[in-house]
Amino acid sequence: MAIVIQQHTALSEHTTLKTGGAARYMVEVLSLEDLREVADFIVKEKLEYLVFGGGSNIFVGEVGFSGVVIKMMNKGIVYEEKETGEVKVKVASGEWLDKVVEKTVTDGIFGLENLSAIPGTVGATPVQNVGAYGMEVKDLITEVEAFHLPTKKVRVFSNEECKFGYRDSFFKTKVGSEYIILAVNFLCNKKFTARIAYGDLEKRFITEAPTALRVREALIEIRGKKFPDWKVLGTAGSFFKNPIIPRTEGQALRARYEDLPIYDVSADMVKVPLGYILDKVCNLKGFRSGNVGLYEEQALVLVNYGGATPTEIISFVEEIKSRVFTKTGIMIEPEVRFI
Ligand code: EPU
Repeated sequence: MAIVIQQHTALSEHTTLKTGGAARYMVEVLSLEDLREVADFIVKEKLEYLVFGGGSNIFVGEVGFSGVVIKMMNKGIVYEEKETGEVKVKVASGEWLDKVVEKTVTDGIFGLENLSAIPGTVGATPVQNVGAYGMEVKDLITEVEAFHLPTKKVRVFSNEECKFGYRDSFFKTKVGSEYIILAVNFLCNKKFTARIAYGDLEKRFITEAPTALRVREALIEIRGKKFPDWKVLGTAGSFFKNPIIPRTEGQALRARYEDLPIYDVSADMVKVPLGYILDKVCNLKGFRSGNVGLYEEQALVLVNYGGATPTEIISFVEEIKSRVFTKTGIMIEPEVRFI
């Protein structure tokens, strides 16, 4: 066997939240052949499995995971240029997203720049339809290539078949989780179109003309201020989703908090920024209990200041949920995946 099956691997060392129990087994996958071997092992031993990319959007509980953690580390970036100037960028799922953004921008291939400085691998992006600064990966994804673990067959999903929603996709469903993402195709372009109509970003380019490189640099700076460095502090980015609520409720909240931003979702529903609610409505920005807190610069970001146990984080999360509910009547849900 080419693959190495590690046992009792501490998941706190494989997640950016830096907490959680151990995995019974962990396998690092470099190729499709490796994945087929892992599939044989899983089927033979009747084990559950879990796919890890960068471990940047995951919360692992005290008991860890009794099955196999599959860590995707397959690499490769291929450009396919069309006469129209469009470029199909095929990226292996184990590639680090920000490295791909940096490479494409440097190579004069545009589209991914608004996703600068997001921690995580490319394979994770379609699963939760990663988004930032006015775009979501669904806007660029043309196909997703995935391995069906029970049958060991490779299937290509069209954008439509991925059933993308806000931080949601087919791959989050029960059937969808049978698929392990191998590669993602993004449709980029040699021509740069600036997408800067987003709060923080817009302000940067009032006097300066945006280029992809400048957008990337601006975002690295903006994110650097709002998010703690996961190499230093435990974090998983936004810990909760921005709630989608009835328009009437959004308007009622807006009547009390005039500067509350409201984003349209449908005729009846709107999305409101939970960061704002935690900060301005609940006064919880920087709120800390023991080793866990909401970040001083961005209230939506939960921080493990060092040594926080999963139990400590769960009780902190419950406290936040109940305070938000008491103040606003809104039930919030985590954005990170709970194991
Ligand atoms: N706000 C506050 N106080 C705070 C935080 C935010 O008043 O402590 C206000 C901001 O001023 C702004 C609004 O709330 O008016 C929204 O904040 P921000 O622009 O920082 O974005 P967000 O809604 O908190 C979302 C995504 C992020 C993504 C950013 C930027 C979710 C759950 N989060 O955050 O994605 O980077 O927009 O586009 O949708 C992630 O999913 O892990 C993530 C980091």
